[in-house]
Amino acid sequence: MLLTIQSVSDLYPAASEIINFSANSRIFLFYGEMGAGKTTLIKALCECLGTNEPITSPTFSIVNEYIGAKNKIYHFDFYRLKNQTEALDMGCEEYFYSGAYCFIEWPEKIPDLLPEHYIAIKINITGENSRQIIIKKDLI
Ligand SMILES: Nc1ncnc2c1ncn2[C@@H]1O[C@H](COP(=O)(O)OP(=O)(O)OP(=O)(O)O)[C@@H](O)[C@H]1O
Ligand SMILES: [Mg+2]
Repeated sequence: MLLTIQSVSDLYPAASEIINFSANSRIFLFYGEMGAGKTTLIKALCECLGTNEPITSPTFSIVNEYIGAKNKIYHFDFYRLKNQTEALDMGCEEYFYSGAYCFIEWPEKIPDLLPEHYIAIKINITGENSRQIIIKKDLI
């Protein structure tokens, strides 16, 4: 699926389309350069899932946990990870196989730990406020 975004406000209807497209998938991998809008899209997805708390980048803590209307949500940012062992040590596999939504920024840092099934989301910057979002199942 391909979504064309003209401004941040377009991300809210886009998030709802992404949630519908992804059906029962719970693992979401976010690709895109720094500032592409991974955290900003995750914020829209979390709001779509009914979170009330503020969504902030978990860069220093690696994972944030939010409570949605029906589901728990884990939000990861592996940018600062030194190696994959560090991800295993923080229990990433327990989170991934917990059945909760897992939104993962910088999945490139844990190539050997990614679950077999996932939704891959690539964000391309096309202008100051515009983005192209490509969403695929089980393909990067
Ligand atoms: N259409 C858009 N979609 C997403 N972000 C947008 C858009 N237009 C402008 N922005 C701005 O671009 C920035 C995106 O930053 P964000 O932290 O979401 O990027 P990121 O991909 O998570 O970066 P990082 O790799 O550093 O975590 C924000 O300041 C946001 O307001
Ligand atoms: Mg981010």
